[in-house]
Amino acid sequence: MNDRKTRVLTGITTSGTPHLGNYVGAIRPAIAAARTSGVESFYFLADYHALVKAHEPARVQRSTLELAAGWLACGLDPEQVWFYRQSDLPEIPELTWLLTCVAGKGLLNRAHAYKAAVERNRADEADDDAGINAGLFMYPVLMAADILLFNANKVPVGRDQVQHIEMARDFAQRFNHLYGEHFALPEAVIDAHIATLPGLDGRKMSKSYDNTIPLFAPHAQLKKLIFSILTDSRMPGEAKDADTSNVFQLYQAFASPNETDAMRQAFAGGIGWGEAKQMLFEHIDAEIAPMRERYQALLAQPQRIEQQLRDGAQRLRARHAIASMQALREAVGLRDLALGELEAPKSGARSGTPGQHIKRYRVSDGRFYTKLSENKVLLATSKGADSHQAANLQLSAVVESGLPALTEYFEIEPGVEPTEVVALLRRMGPL
Ligand code: TRP
Repeated sequence: MNDRKTRVLTGITTSGTPHLGNYVGAIRPAIAAARTSGVESFYFLADYHALVKAHEPARVQRSTLELAAGWLACGLDPEQVWFYRQSDLPEIPELTWLLTCVAGKGLLNRAHAYKAAVERNRADEADDDAGINAGLFMYPVLMAADILLFNANKVPVGRDQVQHIEMARDFAQRFNHLYGEHFALPEAVIDAHIATLPGLDGRKMSKSYDNTIPLFAPHAQLKKLIFSILTDSRMPGEAKDADTSNVFQLYQAFASPNETDAMRQAFAGGIGWGEAKQMLFEHIDAEIAPMRERYQALLAQPQRIEQQLRDGAQRLRARHAIASMQALREAVGLRDLALGELEAPKSGARSGTPGQHIKRYRVSDGRFYTKLSENKVLLATSKGADSHQAANLQLSAVVESGLPALTEYFEIEPGVEPTEVVALLRRMGPL
């Protein structure tokens, strides 16, 4: 189906407290994209990814809470978007294995994070893989599963993650080549105007460098941190180079294009570091202050956040994940042994009550048809689709949008009430 909404998906690793780099690189653009119509958004807490590096359970838990509260405080509406915790979806590690079995090991050898770890070992004259866990090596495959399970089209990420999206495309292509067109090829989305946000010391803002500015630092601490950003020793009155300045890059991420131009001129004109930092502080604080209050209120209600996350995962599994994973299992040959090769994989997998049937068959035109019946009475027959997957999408569309999809994709038997057919499919539960 080509009329489905563009899917935008992004995850955030739960191994720290939300910082300005997460906000500018992931949270803010993702929330803006969710407000665009014609988009279906998926935001999740990548807690399995966190385990690659974070081996302190309390820290993983605390970070998950803080990041969930952070996204909500920044304006995420769980009624409008899919908001969930990675580890609440068993389909993600399940798909990770299917992808692992098509992923080239040589490609994984070239992943930046893994390669950097090997190079550090070589510099220390240690064994190549000393101290490297296999989770780090497999990280891109897990990330590909996050993305491909939902056939996400756009993935907003920082520049350092672009290689991972390219790998996800590679695994998707290999899988499609072997098993048919199951996966859409995802694209990374990076805001061209925003380079990776620099941290206090000028390197990429990252918890691994311990150079972050916490997103919800109280007013006074925020100011102190901004004034501690590393600069050169040029005095007020001396011209400064905007392009190499951390202060300028941070400013640019929070200011309008006009304000940014004005600041560039101020740099050339010799603005003092103190004054530039004060302006930076005011811009950041103006944007963050209202969210900071909401954040504190949310942190005080962890049980509400827990409930929201569970609820999001449960609905998402019912709507997408279980059915997609089922189709993928069948595609690779993890199948009901009683079903013949062209027999409907779905008919055995449905959770409907006895008497309700969905039969899939393929006729000489090569297309896939679906018949819906109840107590052996035929209710509707589909107009056909190019693949099992496409035929399943037709069924999902009926569950999702009701009558319009039903009349588009199905011929209804005379005397059958179309709303009854929709109701029947909905009662039958996840496709
Ligand atoms: N690796 C990402 C990061 O650290 C987090 C992440 C995990 C992610 N799974 C994802 C981002 C899927 C986008 C899509 O930034």
